[in-house]
Amino acid sequence: MKVLLLNGSPHPNGCTFRALSEVEKTLQQEGIETEIFFIGHDPIRGCMGCGMCRKNKLGKCIFGEDAVNVVIKKMEECDGLIVGSPVHYAGASGGITSFLDRMFYSTGGFPYKPGAAVVSCRRAGSTAALEQLNKYFMMNNMPLVPSAYWNMVHGNSPEEVEQDLEGLMVMRTLGRNMAWLLKSIDAGKAHGILAPAAEPKTRTNFIRKCEPAKKEDEEKNFAPYFISYNKVNKEYQEEE
Ligand SMILES: Cc1cc2nc3c(=O)[nH]c(=O)nc-3n(C[C@H](O)[C@H](O)[C@H](O)COP(=O)(O)O)c2cc1C
Repeated sequence: MKVLLLNGSPHPNGCTFRALSEVEKTLQQEGIETEIFFIGHDPIRGCMGCGMCRKNKLGKCIFGEDAVNVVIKKMEECDGLIVGSPVHYAGASGGITSFLDRMFYSTGGFPYKPGAAVVSCRRAGSTAALEQLNKYFMMNNMPLVPSAYWNMVHGNSPEEVEQDLEGLMVMRTLGRNMAWLLKSIDAGKAHGILAPAAEPKTRTNFIRKCEPAKKEDEEKNFAPYFISYNKVNKEYQEEE
């Protein structure tokens, strides 16, 4: 069993790496193979929505000049994915956002492979960034691995992260939970419990025309509110 840990920071050995290393160490102690992959400093283009990946069922992005397709290939051999990012302006880094947009859009994600995100920040914006990253898993049938508290470390340098004992405890717990889930899925498979068959996708775009509300309907729907509003307002004015 193997877990890929994506380092979406511009710093190969920064705070995000420190957090991911703690998860990695625990995974290894639990007998899980690991690889930390640094997304690098080269530009990562965003998804341009050309749809060629889906139209031609490529299973990868048509742009091959960066590491997106390399990681897609690696995921074939991996059973779980952990995405790490620093908090940039209360969101995930621009690099990892572009990376994940193209990776998930072109593949449809990695269904039934557990995933988790971890973030590192100096001070704030971490819950927003974490929520942003968790959505890639939640929309793609990837079980979200929990921990004992928020998946985040605080600090502006790896040395400062070292002092965030709670953050590091959360990282170790995440590693143990990921290992437990992978082993549980494996044990389930051995007993014939396979991933559920996918239902054909239904897509509805929110483009329905709204008819303007009829006056009598409006009165019927809002009358109770007006009555109670007028009553409260009248009592208030009488008190005055
Ligand atoms: C462009 C940019 C924006 C940042 N925005 C925030 C922020 O909104 N909140 C915060 O707490 N830290 C912010 N930081 C600080 C980093 O999140 C923090 O130092 C992080 O731990 C660095 O991780 P790294 O060493 O893996 O890159 C920002 C840093 C950069 C470069």
